[in-house]
Amino acid sequence: VRHHLGEERLRSGRRLWLLLVVIDGRPALSCLRKPEQMAGHDITTLEGLPEQTRQTIAQAFVLEGGVQCGFCIPGIVVRASALIQQGKTNDRDAIAKALDGHICRCTGYGRIIDAIQTAGEALTNGGTLPAEPRRHSFFGEEFGLSRNPVFEFAPNKGHGIGESHARVGGLEQTLGEKPFVDDMRVPGMLHGAMVLSEHPRAKVLAIHTGAAAASQGVVRIFTARDVPGERGAGLAVADLPLFVAVGETTCCVGDFLAMVVADTQFHARQAAANIKVDYEVLEPITDPFKALESGAPQVHSADTFRPAPNVIDSPTKFGRGDVRGGVCHRATRHRSDLRHASG
Ligand code: FES
Repeated sequence: VRHHLGEERLRSGRRLWLLLVVIDGRPALSCLRKPEQMAGHDITTLEGLPEQTRQTIAQAFVLEGGVQCGFCIPGIVVRASALIQQGKTNDRDAIAKALDGHICRCTGYGRIIDAIQTAGEALTNGGTLPAEPRRHSFFGEEFGLSRNPVFEFAPNKGHGIGESHARVGGLEQTLGEKPFVDDMRVPGMLHGAMVLSEHPRAKVLAIHTGAAAASQGVVRIFTARDVPGERGAGLAVADLPLFVAVGETTCCVGDFLAMVVADTQFHARQAAANIKVDYEVLEPITDPFKALESGAPQVHSADTFRPAPNVIDSPTKFGRGDVRGGVCHRATRHRSDLRHASG
């Protein structure tokens, strides 16, 4: 449905309760119902909720900081609408219990419960949301600290430093209308599928791509030898190989060995499954205490992409200084950068 009909608002995810709808007034997973069982039943999707309910819940999620990446939230909005209907939003425990099956990787749930309570209160009060969120908008307020007046919010001057700004695109994310990368389509787009190492520690002896290259829809197969120049990536140390080469040893099961590019995701994945890899499987290093012993085998051993000892000997230093002066300096820099950007 997502890929062939372009209905991207349906988020897949087996345990995230993303496909929630209201059936005869009760929230239920649409993916567990067969179409023939649904004849004669009243089904409401997120799009079918009253517009005022949708907007009030979305605004409450943005106000309370209850939406981050937004992946899980559309299903929770449907759940929230049912809780509002049932008049249960003044009971935090009942909301928490109702959210039992929803997995959110970002928010920590507290703010989601805040948002559902706020939406419930607003909808029973004619749809008016409070001006302030339930939690302190300034970090440190709850510890008795106050904002430096220099950075206070001033009308027509934008937000002050330390003040939370409304999440950009938060309303669309809450209602499942903001596309994720996997939702984006351009004409003629190709699809990739990665081949990952099957073993955390194994020497790669050969990668057989012949059968995969002849598979339907395959345009190209990449391995380490197709990467010109620097093959490493990483934030602090570029020790993650884009591809592990034949002759090298893997450091984890997430190491990439090959990538198939094809006309559809299905063809790419099908071909990736046809790539055969010969390994010399080695014992993985899973005990940090044993890894610290002298003479222990190295995770990044001599035949890995970027050899390194198990203990990275680069001390991290930090110091304390004039925080206020530093913040003032940063504020000045930020403004000047913005002027350059607009000029
Ligand atoms: S999973 Fe990202 S907001 Fe819930």
